Amino acid sequence: MSDTWWRGAAIYQVYLRSFADGNGDGIGDLAGLRAKLPYLAELGVDAIWLNPWYPSPMADGGYDVADYRAIEPSFGTLTEAEDYISEAHALGIRTIIDIVPNHGSDQQEWFVAALAAGPGSLERERFIFRPGRDGGLPPNDWQSIFNGPAWTQVDDGEWYLHLFAPEQPDFNWRNPEVVEEFHSILRFWLDRGVDGIRIDSAAVLFKDLDSVEESYTDHDEVHDVYRGWRRITDSYEGRFLVGEMWMPDQERFALYLRPDEMQTAFNFDFLSRPWDADELRASIDLTLTTHVPIGAPPTWVLSNHDVTRPVTKYGRPDTSFSHQDRKHGMATDPVLGERRARAAALLAMALPGGLYVYQGEELGLPEVENLPDELLQDPLWVRSGGTDRGRDGCRVPIPWSGQEPPFGFGSGTPWLPQPADWKNLTVESQHDDQNSMLTLYRNGLRIRRTELGDGTLTWLDADPGVLLFARDSGLKCITNLSPAPVDLPPHTDLLLTSNPLENGKLPTDTTAWVR
Ligand code: GLC
Ligand code: CA
Repeated sequence: MSDTWWRGAAIYQVYLRSFADGNGDGIGDLAGLRAKLPYLAELGVDAIWLNPWYPSPMADGGYDVADYRAIEPSFGTLTEAEDYISEAHALGIRTIIDIVPNHGSDQQEWFVAALAAGPGSLERERFIFRPGRDGGLPPNDWQSIFNGPAWTQVDDGEWYLHLFAPEQPDFNWRNPEVVEEFHSILRFWLDRGVDGIRIDSAAVLFKDLDSVEESYTDHDEVHDVYRGWRRITDSYEGRFLVGEMWMPDQERFALYLRPDEMQTAFNFDFLSRPWDADELRASIDLTLTTHVPIGAPPTWVLSNHDVTRPVTKYGRPDTSFSHQDRKHGMATDPVLGERRARAAALLAMALPGGLYVYQGEELGLPEVENLPDELLQDPLWVRSGGTDRGRDGCRVPIPWSGQEPPFGFGSGTPWLPQPADWKNLTVESQHDDQNSMLTLYRNGLRIRRTELGDGTLTWLDADPGVLLFARDSGLKCITNLSPAPVDLPPHTDLLLTSNPLENGKLPTDTTAWVR
């Protein structure tokens, strides 16, 4: 086992409550995940990243953590989590967990104690409590990322800060007790064999409350936090950190990847670009110039639990979408979207560095845009006054088998309903179909494992609208985003194409790997 296995790893993101339900209550769980480990081993992934699996009132899908050292009862037990970690290891699959440092749940012990202890107490110092302004106004006018005021008043009159929902009070990272607590939480899980830590909302821990505008992203003090975390992960073998930072400034972004901070971070620039050759090339170059000089491996992400599913996103005629595009009901062409998502998958898999695959991406699941209003759970829906339908559409339970819902997800009614036409997208229906998205991912990941992953790329001359590069192994990847078919580069072997060639040429919106 290499100590730097994560440099070129293919990491599969499991959104536990939507992956597989082992006990029939309609909610995915550890028993379900353990039963599906052979599926993930066959798919060919190196690791699993699990969204928060801790006890949570689920005000934000588990990103409101009530106890950082336990497992959400509807997901299973700590013993089951430990068993899962070792079963996955036995199959060569590592585990990355999600740590949420910016905020806890309002049900977490510390917050309950802070409410009880009252103003001026040491318990309140662990959070960001302030008196309000005259006239019953909050301490400042900051707005929460989930809409509405970023402050909520408690019974004794003080206000607490929450960058997200009111159920997610922000910790005070200037308090050494908070720093120590998270060190202890990291050790708790590293001692239990987890191989990596995903750091939620990593850039926003420090706030300048005197600022009129919201001021919390990327304060210099945050780097000391991750230096401390790095010292801890470095005291174990082969562990790593991956940060979630949504930051437009790549130079500032790179600071998080200095040799004594995080090893990796999610690359959201690539995910945010429209389906356009110049845009994608610019993103790839920007990513490489940000990462290569400092020795950090880039990562490539096409989707996750916060953004629109690729087949829906890439099927929109208006390609000027943003990363958080949730313009539900905006036209999308599913055939075009699937074709482009296939081409994008082989492109992303061929790039140097790590790869993230979000559950269901390998099945080509679309965004579910017509969930009934009353079932929507994302706090964005209610907090936006029903103008933003939120992220539930990419969190619908996975279809495994059969002809009708719940499609083998479990015996109960899934917590979000699956569309009836997903019968054509089940694992069962795609598994042996040579043209399916699943087969494309399985084949791509297999070749990627031996010939791609970590390393560098060399751009080769190509027609306008065409991306062509060679990898160290000699494999060449070509993506045609131009309106006309193009010739493949000289080769002896055609390894894989995202869609069939036409008269020996590579059609529009298609990627091929050749040698
Ligand atoms: C991250 C998570 C998102 C969550 C937010 C607050 O962006 O990916 O799902 O809502 O942090 O924790
Ligand atoms: Ca369950």
